[in-house]
Amino acid sequence: MTTSAAFLDEHHLRVGDVDFHCHYLWGVDATVPEGFLPIAKDRAQVERYLRLCDELRPGVIVELGIHRGGSAALLHALNQPRRLVAIELEREPPPALSGYVARRGLESVLKPHYGVDQADRDAVASIMAAELGGEQIDLVIDDASHLLEQSRVSFETLFPLLRPGGVYVIEDWNADHIVADGFAAVAADPARPGHAGLVAALRQAHAAEPVPHVRLIRLALELVLARASSRDVIREVTVMDNWVLVRRGDEPIDPASFRLADLVTDHFQNLRPLA
Ligand SMILES: C[S@@+](CC[C@H](N)C(=O)[O-])C[C@H]1O[C@@H](n2cnc3c(N)ncnc32)[C@H](O)[C@@H]1O
Repeated sequence: MTTSAAFLDEHHLRVGDVDFHCHYLWGVDATVPEGFLPIAKDRAQVERYLRLCDELRPGVIVELGIHRGGSAALLHALNQPRRLVAIELEREPPPALSGYVARRGLESVLKPHYGVDQADRDAVASIMAAELGGEQIDLVIDDASHLLEQSRVSFETLFPLLRPGGVYVIEDWNADHIVADGFAAVAADPARPGHAGLVAALRQAHAAEPVPHVRLIRLALELVLARASSRDVIREVTVMDNWVLVRRGDEPIDPASFRLADLVTDHFQNLRPLA
């Protein structure tokens, strides 16, 4: 059963006896009340997790991207999982998460691994082999680099370890798109403050990089194409505001050789740039 959770105001979430401060733009407003665990998500995002966990009741969870630690603690407080493995590129453990683990004696349940790149297939695979002891994963959350190659490698490493019906969430898949929408709106309107400076900066950026980097949004498109060929490796791809949810099907997957490209047949060249 998930532990009872309630928002007491826009930022304050209480789960059981644990208080969380939820704020997507924490870097802008980094003030976290004493005793609260910081989560870099806003209320709507967190409420989506509450609904998903209520449906899925995950007993084995993997999180990529720990940051200040509140989201890993939330996943634990909410689900009381048998095992929660988390991976973070930074080497320094965030005190909020270390304190949460130590106060509750969770050292054998909540297992953060620091200084690990989500794109390091071998490192991530051996952490999973050591920590999961062959158990299948119910829920993976990728809230780490938000870069295409890195996120795809993690998907290829961890998706095969999900149980059939298990869920893989990729956060912030469209963040670059939202930023670009904002730029486009200012660039299209000469009366908007900052118009001239932005247009000059965009011209300069275009001259330096005429073909823009492919962004994380492409992973969502690849997943949709993988679903389009109706096999039951990927059962469902649901695209939402800042979430892509991918549900595993029943078909067996070989973790050693699984590559998303093998599932994508772009018959009609939908991944080609529009003319
Ligand atoms: C958006 S923050 C995570 C926020 C956290 N899940 C939360 O909701 O509070 C992203 C984190 O991913 C980490 N990160 C970035 N690139 C990474 C990579 N290649 N591998 C692992 N972690 C990475 C960053 O250091 C940062 O702590």
